[in-house]
Amino acid sequence: MADSNLTIDNFLSKRVLNLEESPTFALEKKADEIDLQLKKEGSFVIRFGIGQPDFDTPSNIKDAAKKAIDENKTRYTASTGIKELKLAIMEKFYKDNNIKYGIENIFAGNGAKQVLDVIIRTFINSGDIVLIPKPYWVSYTQQVILSEGKPVEVEFNEDLKINIENLNKLVKENAGRIKLLIINSPNNPTGAVYSKKELEDIGEICLENNIFIISDEVYENFIYGDAQHYSIASLSEELKDLTITVNAVSKTYAMTGWRIGYCAADKEIIKQMAKIQDQSASNPCTPAQWAALEALKGNQDSVERMRIEYEKRKDYIYKRLNGIKGIKCSLPEGAFYVFPDISALFSSRVKNAFEFAGELLEKAKVAVVPGRAFGDDNFIRISYAATMDKIKEGMDRLEKFCKEL
Ligand SMILES: Cc1ncc(COP(=O)(O)O)c(C=O)c1O
Repeated sequence: MADSNLTIDNFLSKRVLNLEESPTFALEKKADEIDLQLKKEGSFVIRFGIGQPDFDTPSNIKDAAKKAIDENKTRYTASTGIKELKLAIMEKFYKDNNIKYGIENIFAGNGAKQVLDVIIRTFINSGDIVLIPKPYWVSYTQQVILSEGKPVEVEFNEDLKINIENLNKLVKENAGRIKLLIINSPNNPTGAVYSKKELEDIGEICLENNIFIISDEVYENFIYGDAQHYSIASLSEELKDLTITVNAVSKTYAMTGWRIGYCAADKEIIKQMAKIQDQSASNPCTPAQWAALEALKGNQDSVERMRIEYEKRKDYIYKRLNGIKGIKCSLPEGAFYVFPDISALFSSRVKNAFEFAGELLEKAKVAVVPGRAFGDDNFIRISYAATMDKIKEGMDRLEKFCKEL
């Protein structure tokens, strides 16, 4: 650069420079490096970091994509997706979630993450507040920042669910500046599932204060024990008007790389979202849309098979974690994560979950995500989207590491 006082950063936007790098991907990178080293010694890192199913995409879905490609269904589509897929999504919302939408209420995008980004960009002006209950999935805060909005974190209770008093307080303090509240049940990172009553209480506050709700339901199919999934939009017509219900085929059908997510909302919201999609991604990947259509309409047995397997792993991991001195883990009712409190293990050597996760990776070769990424560094997130053998080995390593701390 001719002017030596300037660096590339002087030219880049504050919006992007203010973004944090994805902590899960940063951790995976570090785990990769260690793994490479370990391979030479015939060992490996146990990875509990990344949140994606370890199962393969079911073959009927893969076949549908191959067929679509062979039939040259490879061109641009409508920005909100092909009609067949939107009709299938509409039916899914009616059948599974008891919410009646028309095709004009449906938007298909490139994964739930991209759909969430488009929703946030559709709503947020600079400085607008988005309420985000802790612990939260990391992209919510970063997407709000990218839209120049202000993420405001809502505190949580012992059960790792939203603290309603704190929500009320924040709503009063920021009256008139709050556009959205993001709820996520079943929750990443805690596995918490909100009851109907809890959703009604949250909904009442949003209705009284004209706050739109983004309901992220991507883990809805992975529910355990007596827990039941409720969509907040199904609770009343008023709540339906105020809610954007987000979902995806990514987790349910082990299709994370296919990048198909979707949402349903008031048709005016969808119309405005379509404008953003038109000028950015154009449309969700065409063959993947045909695969997603098969996922939604085809045989659903694989979903239950995966759910049963996750439930077994959850029971095992929950028992093992609570058997380790210094670890306190609440029982997850959904998703494929546990979020244990490890603060009793902190010392001058390991002062927070970030340092704990770093040491655990270096010394015990186990990758977990420090709670900092989700808004609280007294916790770590463990994804049990890993085989039972790996989970057993990982728990053995974790237990030994904690004993020696
Ligand atoms: C809560 C939550 N919402 C959305 C997503 C993104 O899903 P997709 O892969 O469809 O973009 C994830 C992925 O980890 C998630 O955990």
